[in-house]
Amino acid sequence: MMISNKMQDALNKQIALEAYASHLYLAMATWCDKQGLDGCKKFLLAQSDEERVHMLKLFHYMSDVDGTAIAPEIKKPPVDYDSVTNVFEMLHDHEQEVTHAIHALVKLAYDENDYTTLNFLQWYVEEQREEEAMARDILDKINLIGDSPQSLYFIDLELQKISDGED
Ligand code: FEO
Repeated sequence: MMISNKMQDALNKQIALEAYASHLYLAMATWCDKQGLDGCKKFLLAQSDEERVHMLKLFHYMSDVDGTAIAPEIKKPPVDYDSVTNVFEMLHDHEQEVTHAIHALVKLAYDENDYTTLNFLQWYVEEQREEEAMARDILDKINLIGDSPQSLYFIDLELQKISDGED
């Protein structure tokens, strides 16, 4: 095996965190669907798919380095959310948690002189920078527009635009 047991355990924890993100964004998409926020739903479904890709990248890496990837148990994400602001605050919080976890993995790779994993993790470092910036940007827009019933239409339009890659 090219990675330590400690690194294997840490990467499996990251698999669980990415899997939870995928489920969390799926649950948020369901809530938005119920509110008639189709743009938000579309955005969150796409994010959920991306998180699954993040998880699978870890699976493939583990296979490449002769480690064992474990399909994680996933806790149930919340069903109800207070508001659309609440949804995107939670998304931003979760992205920050993922960033901290990635940085901890980078530190472990450094400490273990595991340059293979260190190199592999660079993709995640960059991805997290982008995802956090996007989450921050969305929250700024929501805070600007407000999430009163009249504002929801415009928020949803913004999220639809981001989903369509027009932003
Ligand atoms: Fe895979 Fe958005 O963290």
